[in-house]
Amino acid sequence: MYPKIQIKLSGIIENVKRTKELCKQNGISLAVVTKLLADNREIVQAIVESGVDYICDSRIQNLISYKDINTEKWLIRSPSNDEIPDVIRYADASLNSEIETIKKLNAEAKKQGKTHKVILMYELGDLREGCLKPELEEIAGEALHLSNIELYGVGVNLSCYGEIVPSEKNMKELEEVVLELERKYNIKFKMVSGGNSSSFNMMKNGRLPNSINNLRMGEAIYLGNIPCFEEKIDEFNQDNFIVKAEIIELKEKPSVPWGECGLSNSFGEHSTFTDRGTRKRAIIGLGKQDVKLEGITPLDEGIIILGGSSDHIILDVSDSEKQYKVGDIIEFMPNYAGVLSCMTSKYVQKEIVR
Ligand SMILES: Cc1ncc(COP(=O)(O)O)c(C=O)c1O
Repeated sequence: MYPKIQIKLSGIIENVKRTKELCKQNGISLAVVTKLLADNREIVQAIVESGVDYICDSRIQNLISYKDINTEKWLIRSPSNDEIPDVIRYADASLNSEIETIKKLNAEAKKQGKTHKVILMYELGDLREGCLKPELEEIAGEALHLSNIELYGVGVNLSCYGEIVPSEKNMKELEEVVLELERKYNIKFKMVSGGNSSSFNMMKNGRLPNSINNLRMGEAIYLGNIPCFEEKIDEFNQDNFIVKAEIIELKEKPSVPWGECGLSNSFGEHSTFTDRGTRKRAIIGLGKQDVKLEGITPLDEGIIILGGSSDHIILDVSDSEKQYKVGDIIEFMPNYAGVLSCMTSKYVQKEIVR
């Protein structure tokens, strides 16, 4: 059935094993981020069997679905109120930056007779989740007194919102904050989670400070790509995902719409059109409801993505060396956003090839 996303499981597992080995050589534990897989148990199970230390996901629904997969699981988006009972039930640890939430986790953990591990998030400049230093110190002090919370460690997130990359400077800042907290409260954190795939090179080259002992990685593993640096990782598989869709209409048409023009298209956007004369246009059975258009690149370099709507993508295939016909399959290489959207769409079939 098309559209589909084809997933090369062996390629992902090879990347997991290589990452794990590099992490091990550099004294770093690996938490594999599973959110991209959008609740694909078969792949998650295989990742866990390949010997990773932890898995983590931003959606509690996914962790619930992995409940019988035997590994330590972290929720990497701060829990919202309604999620707290499930977070205690199904996540061993969670990333947090609000003391009120941590207190609620503590109360629920007490109710369920459990201890929940909390990783406090420190804001290192990317400006998504995290506390500035004074608040971090205050929360750590309070969390230490909560009976059913284990203050597991400190974490940072980079390269997701503000495009801030890890550097000697900000990694050293993290180390200093961690050491200061440990001195102040006379504790030793088990977990100092220094970031995500953008820290791959610093980890590989042994440039992370000694106190940092964990990374949470997704993109490097799935796509062999270091985000923010947009650098391919040598010897990692980069073609683990291919998006495929079928041509459902193929016609020669003018390249500029005609008639009276309104203010916007069906997505509320205004487009401009270049007159390239009459072109061979293919429509495929895949749309914006399934995939982020900017997140896919046709494997056939002669194809241009013109645009799309919820259920259709319109391609200019005039310059292709191939003579396409209705029913032919067009293949695309997705980036992270492309994979994430396809994996999340229930209308895109997931085909695992081993
Ligand atoms: C909190 C957190 N940690 C780690 C990651 C993994 O990032 P990456 O895929 O760049 O390794 C993400 C993003 O998915 C995240 O939100």
